[in-house]
Amino acid sequence: MTMSIIKKKRVAVFVSGRGSNLQALIEGVAKDGIPAEIALVISNKPEALALQRAERHGIPIAVFPPTGLPGPEAYTDALLERLYKAEIDLICLAGFTRILPSRLLAAFPQRVINIHPSLLPAFGGKGMYGMRVHRAVLASGAKYSGATVHIVTEEIDCGPIICQEVVPVADDDTPETLAQRVLEVEHRLYPRALKLMAEDALEINGLRTRIRQRAD
Ligand code: GAR
Repeated sequence: MTMSIIKKKRVAVFVSGRGSNLQALIEGVAKDGIPAEIALVISNKPEALALQRAERHGIPIAVFPPTGLPGPEAYTDALLERLYKAEIDLICLAGFTRILPSRLLAAFPQRVINIHPSLLPAFGGKGMYGMRVHRAVLASGAKYSGATVHIVTEEIDCGPIICQEVVPVADDDTPETLAQRVLEVEHRLYPRALKLMAEDALEINGLRTRIRQRAD
């Protein structure tokens, strides 16, 4: 019998607010056999509720308000230094409201993933986050929305898609009711995507990803 031992990936989760996806990742790692450890939570906002969630679970936190350092290069340096110090392998963006610096993306090639509350490439791009997405979906008359986890690239919300799930739009939906149903889907989708990444299970070809066929 061959046994493959997978080294646990050290994950940093970037947050800005409520942190319900962070919570789903913490719980997913605890019970879904994901070979990962949430080793650091980074926020740009000191008041983010997500930081309290991290602390409750004994996860180290770091706050990087964008105005706290002399300029964007110093900000990137500080972020990178913290990530290297924590020996981070993978980064999950979970409601993080800032665009990541190119230098950080280059330091973690195909190692940064993001969750978005629509079926990308629809309703994504600059300025499309949170309730704005759900308002735009309803205004468009679309009958289906959903959630997407994708690999982060320089072009906002345009990287290779890891997984998606559809949520039908109800006739009487408001942005709030749609957001709530999409969020429930996000909470099971994100741990699933993290598992694929942590297991190095994905083959990425251009914008397409697929689960690697295993030899054994
Ligand atoms: C989630 O719905 C996430 O998909 C969205 O922000 C919310 C964060 O909630 N992200 C974006 O819109 C990114 N463009 P949470 O803080 O409870 O996880």
